[in-house]
Amino acid sequence: MNLPLKTLILFFTGCCCVVGEENITNRYFPETFQFGLASAAYQVEGGWNEDGKGENIWDRFLHEQPNRTTDGKNGDVACDSYHKWKEDVELLKEFGVSVYRFSISWARILPDGSANRINQPGVDYYLNLLKELKANNIEPLVTLYHWDLPQHLSELGGWLNPQIADYFGEYARVAFSLFGDYVKRWATVNEPKSTCLLGYGNTMDAPGLVLIGDGIYQCAKIQLLAHAKAYHIYDKEFRPTQKGKISLVLDTPWNEPISDSANDKEAAEREMQFGFGWFANPVYLGDWPDVMKERINNRSSQEGIGFSRLPELSQEEIDYINGTFDYFGLNIYTALLVGYIPDDDISVPNYWLDKGNTLSSDPSWPASSTDWLHYAPFAMRKLVNYINDLYKPGEIFITENGWCDEELIEDPDRIRYHKGYLSSLLDAILIDKVNVVGYTAWSLLDNFEWTSGYTQRLGLIYVDHDSPNRTRTWKSSGLYYKKVVETRCLVDTCIDEI
Ligand code: BGC
Repeated sequence: MNLPLKTLILFFTGCCCVVGEENITNRYFPETFQFGLASAAYQVEGGWNEDGKGENIWDRFLHEQPNRTTDGKNGDVACDSYHKWKEDVELLKEFGVSVYRFSISWARILPDGSANRINQPGVDYYLNLLKELKANNIEPLVTLYHWDLPQHLSELGGWLNPQIADYFGEYARVAFSLFGDYVKRWATVNEPKSTCLLGYGNTMDAPGLVLIGDGIYQCAKIQLLAHAKAYHIYDKEFRPTQKGKISLVLDTPWNEPISDSANDKEAAEREMQFGFGWFANPVYLGDWPDVMKERINNRSSQEGIGFSRLPELSQEEIDYINGTFDYFGLNIYTALLVGYIPDDDISVPNYWLDKGNTLSSDPSWPASSTDWLHYAPFAMRKLVNYINDLYKPGEIFITENGWCDEELIEDPDRIRYHKGYLSSLLDAILIDKVNVVGYTAWSLLDNFEWTSGYTQRLGLIYVDHDSPNRTRTWKSSGLYYKKVVETRCLVDTCIDEI
């Protein structure tokens, strides 16, 4: 979720929400609530070309252009989880968590992305991991796609080629049939908005294309069709015997209007629709948000384009995508203040101009070491309520939530972060009665943080990336989270519901 905030117009005004020594709830989490930790293949595995793994877009991107990352480093070794998976499971066991979210590297099991060639050592890697998790009573939450498209498929056009949805469906079928007996919760794609905006909208992420006025919208449609295809395959062919759940993982900051003015309130809702409804509406309600259809259509015609740059969803496609969820997978990190600005004159086609708005952070929200992430715990409660009311998903799972710093072992800000956000979440569960069933903190380990390389840390376990052994050490936040998992309580003493 490393959105290029720096590239946006920032303007600061007074506060909207008080943050500081807020109250942390002293109630218990429900017994059924699942605590866990999360990771993703390219960020932790390494073993980039071992045992028959194919090349993916991040391998290619960073081998050819090492200066894409702050420290010039890449994920060739990362946390070496390809070799240290047993140690990782041991850590999860010590945490006492009941769920581990990880992703499968598509090219590790299908080197070219195509189901015509299965790489057995890659399959064995995931089978071993799944068996070890099972032996330790830890449920897997498996993401099929966390940004590491097989390079061959990128050469076919990547997420701009509609046939990639077919390849994804085939890949999903292979994964369901090989691993499905162990997996009861699947996530198809992680943050499709990030894939499209960062990979196809600016040069931040692989494959590094800049198609911010049109390619990003095509990418979105194809990823939604890919997700839906995987959902339908699971639903028809695997659900009857495997009895699991499947959905996709979406992300957004909580968008707070910068003032009480009607214009700013409308701007904040428009921000929600462009940044979140873009993917959530087709899946949970059917079709793109109206405000996107209207604005992009109008702007396209004023630009002299005879059709909307937002590709239409046919009725058949709407029906195919609508309802393809068993839960809502949510990545939430922060909040933004949204303000109205009059639309720019028509110039170049551009998502940010299609959307309008100014985005900023409240100066009272404590900053992390990265520009897009601030401590704004109220965001959690507001967002899960928003989702519950608007999308009625039945069940929400927090698939990512975490803090970024440059600390090594003592990380009090990360403790404050998880404590505050979990407290806000518990209020939503106990007071607002929102059905949030689990939480996988991001991240188990200090891992490869995309274009920040290893300079930014989000782990609850410290990893020494300079040591050949990639030594893991407990941080103070890890110890705190372990205690929360054990006691189901965020403070020293909790009380039962009165
Ligand atoms: C991504 C992770 C990333 C995290 C922190 C999320 O958007 O899914 O891969 O490490 O944000 O930037």
